[in-house]
Amino acid sequence: WKTLDDMDLAGKTVLTRVDINVPMENGVVTDATRIEKIVPTVKDIQARGGKVVLLAHFDRPKGKVVPEMSLGHVQDALAQALGCKVVFAADCVGDVAKAAIDAASPGDVVLLENTRFHAGEEKNDADLAKAMAALGDVFVNDAFSAAHRAHASTAGIAHLLPAAAGRLMEAELRALESALGKPVRPVVAVVGGAKVSTKLDLLGNLVSKVDHLVIGGGMANTFLVAGGTEVGKSLAERDMADTARAIMAKAEAAGCIIHLPLDVVVAREFRAGAANETVAVDACPADAMILDAGPATVAALEGVFTGAKTLIWNGPLGAFEIEPFDAATNAAARSVAALTKSGKLVSVAGGGDTVAALNKAGAAGDFSFISTAGGAFLEWMEGKELPGVAALM
Ligand code: 3PG
Repeated sequence: WKTLDDMDLAGKTVLTRVDINVPMENGVVTDATRIEKIVPTVKDIQARGGKVVLLAHFDRPKGKVVPEMSLGHVQDALAQALGCKVVFAADCVGDVAKAAIDAASPGDVVLLENTRFHAGEEKNDADLAKAMAALGDVFVNDAFSAAHRAHASTAGIAHLLPAAAGRLMEAELRALESALGKPVRPVVAVVGGAKVSTKLDLLGNLVSKVDHLVIGGGMANTFLVAGGTEVGKSLAERDMADTARAIMAKAEAAGCIIHLPLDVVVAREFRAGAANETVAVDACPADAMILDAGPATVAALEGVFTGAKTLIWNGPLGAFEIEPFDAATNAAARSVAALTKSGKLVSVAGGGDTVAALNKAGAAGDFSFISTAGGAFLEWMEGKELPGVAALM
C-alpha cells in the first residue's frame, strides 16, 4: 500500500476517509480520541497543498437520514482539534457536497454528511462509490477502525481513484505487523473477555502464531471447565467445553503455551465492593463466582511478560468495570507498561473494552501502540483480510 509520501497532493482535492464514530451524549462528544488521531493526516495533506474533504460514517442509521446521527454534531469538536475552519455539507455526494467543496477556501476542511445515510454505503454500491469519487482527485483512507467493513467509502472508492493510507492507518498497520505479522519472539497474546463463543476465530488463529496465550476473564472459566475444574456459579459456556479442548490441543501441537488462572478472586454477588476471597483455582465454592484472577496468577504472568519481546492484548482479565475486581487487569497492565517503558517489550493493544481497562489502570500511555479500532482490531487478530486495507493494495 501507498502512503501520503507516495502521492502528489498539490492542488488536489483529497477525499479522506476517517473514523470519527466517537462516543456522544446529548449531541456532545464525550471522548475525542478518534478525532485527535486524524489530525496528523489532515495537517499533512494541507501542508502538501491538498484540499481535505472528510468522508465518514456515524453510528448505524441503516441507510436512512437520522438527524441525531448527523456528522454536523462533530463539526465543532473537529474544528477545535484541527485548529482550522470546518465547512459542513449536508450530503456526502451530489450538488450539495460539490458546492461546499468548491466554495471552501484553501486551508479549510470540508466535512461531508454521514455516508451511512445512503443505503448504498453498506452495500458497497458501485454508483454511490462513483458519486463519491467524482468529488475528488485522490483517495486517502485513514480509517483503520472501519477497514473491516466492505463499504462504498472504505473499499469501493479506493478502486476508482489513486489511493493511499493516511498516517493513522499507516501507524495501525505497522503496529499490528510488528505484533503479529513479523514479531520479535517470544510473543505473548493476552485475551480476555466474557465469552469464548465470540472469540473462537481469534483463539484459533493466535495459537498458531504466538508462543504464549494468556486467557482471562469469563473465557478462562470455560477453559477451566473443559479441563475438569469446577467453577461454581461463574460465567462459563459449558457447551463450549469441547471447542475449548480442541483449541488446547491445537495449541499444544503448535508449541503455544496456554496460561489459565492459578488462583481466583470469588464473590457471591456481582457488584462493586462485594465481599470476596482469593482461593486456589480448583477451590471455587459451589455458590460463588470467579470475578478476577488472583495475585499468584498475576505474579506468574509477570514472569511470562518479562521473558517476552512482543505482546498483544485484547480483553480484560476480570470484571474490570467493578472494583475491586479490576485488580488483576490493573496489575498486569502496569507490568506490561513498565516493561515497555524500559524498552524490553513491544506492546500493542486494541478493542473498546481493552482500551478502557488500560486507561483505567493508567497504563495505556506507556504501551507501544494503542489501536483506535474495536471490531477491525479483532478481525485483524483473527487473521482475516480487512476489505478497507485490501482495497489499498
Ligand atoms: C467502530 O466504532 O468500531 C467503527 O467505527 C465501525 O463501526 P461499525 O461497527 O458500526 O461498523
